[in-house]
Amino acid sequence: MDRFEIRGGARLSGRLTIKGSKNAALPLMAAALLTDEPVTLRDVPELADIANMRRLLDNLGVALQHSPASDPDAAGGVLRLHADPKANSHAHYDIVRTMRASVCALGPMLARRGEARVSLPGGCAIGERPVDLHLRGLRALGAEIEVDGGDIIAKVAIGSDGARRLTGARIFLGGPMGSTVLGTANVMSAATLARGTTIIECAACEPEIVDLAKLLTAMGAKISGAGSPRITIEGVAALGSADHRVLADRIEAGTYMCAAAITRGDLILENCPVDALMAHMDCLATMGVTMQYDLSGDPLRASCRVVADRRLSPVEVTTQPHPGFPTDLQAQLMAVLCLAEGRSVVTERIFGERFMHVAELTRMGAQLYRTGATVNVQGTERLQGTQVMASDLRASACLVLAGLAAEGTTIVNRVYHLDRGYERMEERLRLLGADIERISEQVPEVVNG
Ligand code: EPU
Repeated sequence: MDRFEIRGGARLSGRLTIKGSKNAALPLMAAALLTDEPVTLRDVPELADIANMRRLLDNLGVALQHSPASDPDAAGGVLRLHADPKANSHAHYDIVRTMRASVCALGPMLARRGEARVSLPGGCAIGERPVDLHLRGLRALGAEIEVDGGDIIAKVAIGSDGARRLTGARIFLGGPMGSTVLGTANVMSAATLARGTTIIECAACEPEIVDLAKLLTAMGAKISGAGSPRITIEGVAALGSADHRVLADRIEAGTYMCAAAITRGDLILENCPVDALMAHMDCLATMGVTMQYDLSGDPLRASCRVVADRRLSPVEVTTQPHPGFPTDLQAQLMAVLCLAEGRSVVTERIFGERFMHVAELTRMGAQLYRTGATVNVQGTERLQGTQVMASDLRASACLVLAGLAAEGTTIVNRVYHLDRGYERMEERLRLLGADIERISEQVPEVVNG
């Protein structure tokens, strides 16, 4: 298991190209299951989750051609996917358990093949993470679904014309926490091939859904309203080939903005999805971070300069579905708030248990007081480096940020969580002036005899 060793205190400066988005790329890759023709994705990041999704799709009969980017500062590589609709439709537990987003394969596979068997993703470090809304949406489209032996088994009955097609419906997809991102992706993707019209109410408005709708539209789907809470899909008989550039990663960009904020740095982020990050940027600006960007070009691929030159002010922030403050940046912002001048309040409304970083930050000297889904952060003047344990992807990023600003050496153990969602984070931070290295644990060679 690798760990990071960080000697804190360096002020970060320089330029960085934001990578393609992991959370956009995963459902985009699964959308290749909807067509018998090839789909090309560009700016695909090199991440463990993407490799897991490639492995899953390979198992499901998708031929993959993968060309990683030769320039480490490029936004990502090129992936060509070509599905065989007659292939095996069983997504096994050994892959699904490594990556919850495997559930993205369910809707596309069901719509194109008339059947799908996908192992139920379990919980993870950030909470229970049910998929009931995905199943409710697909059932509303006419799928017969049962859960057996830990697998979701979904089928479409054969119609009078001998075809196994879903049927358009009006679907309310809201749950106790609001909309569901991957649930919306699953139902929207499946509805593209249904007979008739589907209306998804309380659809997720996340930019990754808009990006998926762009790809599906390029493949021949008829979708309107993506990015709003009501999405309308007119089903078509078949989808075809498309070539699509993946949305830039708003969470990676938001994390590097926090890196500038916590080190009093000066960063220029290229390919920055400013238009998808307004809540986060507004929060940083309120704290005293200066942000300069030009939206005359594509506001999802802007150049954004982030400068912090003083101790920051505290804020009150509540995570919400987009366009509210994203849960995926809550932990990283909390690291910055630990060093702000005064008391901040952070409330988590999407994953009420997503606070694994709190105890680790406390080990570094942060003053955090949690009550339920709210953490009061009393800013201190310094954090101290020590050994901390990464527990999930964004909590790990939070600990790296804290380590960049802490006195002395911080060791972040179990960085495999980070590798799921941040490409070569230590190399990218080093290029910006951070003193950080990856220590790989040498597994001793076993000699027989
Ligand atoms: N929910 C239900 N029932 C469902 C689905 C969701 O009650 O059937 C609840 C969840 O428990 C949660 C809320 O609805 O309280 C929102 O969950 P959502 O379904 O939107 O999450 P997701 O689609 O599984 C994606 C991202 C997460 C991100 C969330 C919220 C991917 C691969 N994952 O998950 O990203 O936190 O949306 O924005 O896109 C991450 O990248 O670190 C990450 C966890």
